[in-house]
Amino acid sequence: MARRCGRATSRFTGEKQTFTTKTATSAVWLCFCLLFSSAAEAGLYTASDQVIVLSAQENVESVLTNSTAAMVVEFYASWCGHCIAFSPVYKSLARDIKEWKPAIDLAAIDCAAEENRKACAGFNITGYPTIKFFHAYSKAKSSGQALRAFPRDVRGLRHRIIDKLENHKEPWPPACPPLEPTSQAEIDSFFETNSVEHLALIFEGPKSYIGREVTLDLLQFENIAVRRVLTTEEGLVTKLGVTDFPTCYLYYPGGNFTRLKVNIEARTFYSYALQRLPGVVRSGKPPPVATGVHTNSTSEPWRPFNRSRVYMADLESTLHYSLRVELAAHTVIKGQALISLKKYISVLAKYFPGRPVVMNLLKSVNSRLQNHTGDEISYKAFRGMVENSEQSVDTVLPEGVRWVGCQGSQPHLRRYPCGVWTLFHVLTVQAKNTEGTDPQEVLSAMRNYVRSFFGCRPCAEHFENMARESLVEVNTFSSAVLWLWSRHNRVNNRLAGALSEDPDFPKIQWPPPDLCSGCHTVKENGEHRWKNEEVLFFLLSYFSANSILTDYLEDENQILSKQREKYVSQQQALEAQKRVERKAREALGSMTDPLPTVQEEEEEEEEEEEEEEGPQDEEEEGGEGAAAADEMEAKTTPWAKPEMGRVRRQARGKPSIVGMRMREPQEDIVDLDSFVNQHYKAKALRMAASSRVKQRTLQRKEEQEPGPVFGLGMELDAGLGMVGLQPVEADFEPDVGRQRKRLQKRELTGQYMFEEADLSHRGRWMSVLSIGFSKVDISLCVILYFLSSMCLMAMYLFFKNRLRLRRAKVALP
Ligand SMILES: Cc1cc2nc3c(=O)[nH]c(=O)nc-3n(C[C@H](O)[C@H](O)[C@H](O)COP(=O)(O)OP(=O)(O)OC[C@H]3O[C@@H](n4cnc5c(N)ncnc54)[C@H](O)[C@@H]3O)c2cc1C
Ligand SMILES: *[C@@H]1O[C@H](CO)[C@@H](O)[C@H](O)[C@H]1NC(C)=O
Ligand SMILES: *[C@@H]1O[C@H](CO)[C@@H](O)[C@H](O)[C@H]1NC(C)=O
Ligand SMILES: *[C@@H]1O[C@H](CO)[C@@H](O)[C@H](O)[C@H]1NC(C)=O
Repeated sequence: MARRCGRATSRFTGEKQTFTTKTATSAVWLCFCLLFSSAAEAGLYTASDQVIVLSAQENVESVLTNSTAAMVVEFYASWCGHCIAFSPVYKSLARDIKEWKPAIDLAAIDCAAEENRKACAGFNITGYPTIKFFHAYSKAKSSGQALRAFPRDVRGLRHRIIDKLENHKEPWPPACPPLEPTSQAEIDSFFETNSVEHLALIFEGPKSYIGREVTLDLLQFENIAVRRVLTTEEGLVTKLGVTDFPTCYLYYPGGNFTRLKVNIEARTFYSYALQRLPGVVRSGKPPPVATGVHTNSTSEPWRPFNRSRVYMADLESTLHYSLRVELAAHTVIKGQALISLKKYISVLAKYFPGRPVVMNLLKSVNSRLQNHTGDEISYKAFRGMVENSEQSVDTVLPEGVRWVGCQGSQPHLRRYPCGVWTLFHVLTVQAKNTEGTDPQEVLSAMRNYVRSFFGCRPCAEHFENMARESLVEVNTFSSAVLWLWSRHNRVNNRLAGALSEDPDFPKIQWPPPDLCSGCHTVKENGEHRWKNEEVLFFLLSYFSANSILTDYLEDENQILSKQREKYVSQQQALEAQKRVERKAREALGSMTDPLPTVQEEEEEEEEEEEEEEGPQDEEEEGGEGAAAADEMEAKTTPWAKPEMGRVRRQARGKPSIVGMRMREPQEDIVDLDSFVNQHYKAKALRMAASSRVKQRTLQRKEEQEPGPVFGLGMELDAGLGMVGLQPVEADFEPDVGRQRKRLQKRELTGQYMFEEADLSHRGRWMSVLSIGFSKVDISLCVILYFLSSMCLMAMYLFFKNRLRLRRAKVALP
């Protein structure tokens, strides 16, 4: 299970790089699958619960037969009330003994499911829930040992499992360490036969389970062995001068020993302290590197930081990555995704504790986005908002990432997902401090964002599972803060030891005792308990706006001037493009309509306005040199490079084929509704210009523009729309003369430009290319095209055959 999660994550990190090349299709599809899978999951356990979900015969056999770990299996019926009541306990148990997996693993099977009935029948199950224990290397026919009258609490179950393990017959599960009490004789010769650095001795009474629990808790860690010593082992007890039970001692070769210092003498404290001893590493993980020596493993210099603080640089990097990279994977944002985006931006604008320039930007994006009517928005239009295309003063989101507290020891570890967690913790705390009206506001924004956009799809699924399970319980701002904290800890628990875990930043239950000792306590029976009031207090101060450090932040003036420069160079590129366009049009001479001139004037007017604004801004910003921009470029990580926006812009900046209508690369809001309405017919008509011409144009465009399919998608989409509107024959008339085609095309261009000029009166620049269409649209259209050409071919063949037949008839007599 853990390994499976790990693999998913490693795919995720790989995905990040190729991510931007993916389009909305996959996202839409995945969302769909997500919703679907949640509906299909009728059982009481999901993949997020660390319980192996058994199903039908095959999986049951492969899991239970000949397993190297002993197995505990719950047989339940999803409709049975007791099973439903018991499932949270079983899930807690799974989290509690997660580290024991190599020796003993948990599984569950829903016997109420029709397809599982046969599998369940083989185990002599008479009532639900039933728990059975299966030895390691069980035979195929084994029906396991029932745990009779099993306790309904985690601690009791855990103890029963230990009893079962202790009495495990040969063959012993290979990963399971010895659990029996040790003796003075064994300890005396211990280091002769074992090559571990640390030997931990837990002194306890014969009824205590702590020693065995800690032994199992550490079974996945190397360089340490744990043994329990009973109070009756007088030699050792007197030698070490042990008076309290339980206590834990570290024993070294030569008979040296020290007592392990912990806040409370209890299992979790021992386990946490022992797992963190120097030299103790999780099996299969490289040893942690001392901070500051990372310089080589990553392409960036390591930025020293305080591990118990939150850094604004991480939060800004997260915003950059989220808004400029993650969202860029969605060429068009619509429906549920658009709602998610609006919520997310609104929460950011409300609660993000950013510096003034960033807040200005978030607020401006928010107001522009909320004013956006229409049920979809192209990413390009949204990107325009993020890049401050209106050029408001002192409004900018720094570009590039500078991870500080979220640095990883490897380029593929930590960073963005760490930033996402941190961001939302900060937001829940900010919301608590301002106490608005809706305690779930931030969490539901997070849930929606993760569901619609978070690049790691398995993560999104797990998070959605948790949200579905318990988000409704959040009814105060404090409980929202605590909810996110505790769910984050669940994720940490699940991911401990996974491939995505940075050995330098192990996944622990957070905050650990050394960060917040008051947060931890134990119940009467010695079980660990979080003191929620203390945790809340800690979180409120840890993530509060005043304690966020601003080290390593890029200078505001520098960012502003860079933005300004970028804007100016874009404008220049635009003008250059227009010049080419104009020349092309002049060269075409007779081909041009009078209408484009109107358009041109319109464009020039706009330019002048912008130029007037220009110098004014520059003065305020105290313009800085181009060096700043270069520097920034150098600072962005390779990780952040796949920025679609930039690539696209470059691609479009190139002059396109002479005679083709140029499209403005502005990044302004596009009012999609009106645009679509006004251009609908134009596009449809254009489509009517034979399919052959279209194919050629498409081909050329594909060669020309590496990234996107916007233009393509649009034309195709228009075609699709038209099929519904107009007689199909018009679309695919095979014998449209060349003359007619050209005529039509010209006519359309005219109409088109006229409409565009019309729109620009309203101060909005329209860009045909800015309308993206998802691949779903495209593939639909491609299918349609394919079908129609097949149809034509069939017709052609049919007539040809008939002709031949007639000829044959004529020839016969
Ligand atoms: C919504 C979401 C779901 C995810 N699901 C998965 C998944 O299913 N599989 C997967 O492999 N990866 C998943 N990830 C990524 C994973 O959780 C980590 O973010 C990533 O592995 C980086 O880990 P990290 O060491 O930086 O610590 P993170 O877990 O990212 O934590 C960042 C920082 O927050 C602090 N912190 C830690 N725990 C808590 C807590 N309980 N409360 C408050 N603060 C805390 C610590 O200072 C820590 O350094 C998910 C991420 C997110 C945002
Ligand atoms: C069980 O596994 C062991 C090794 O893991 C293997 O040698 C043996 O053949 C397996 N037995 C069956 C019945 O699959
Ligand atoms: C680390 O960097 C130094 C120079 O910066 C280089 O000489 C050395 O080979 C690098 N080591 C590794 C393991 O990359
Ligand atoms: C890190 O921050 C904590 C909390 O503010 C502080 O107590 C500690 O001294 C800091 N550590 C360093 C090395 O600055």
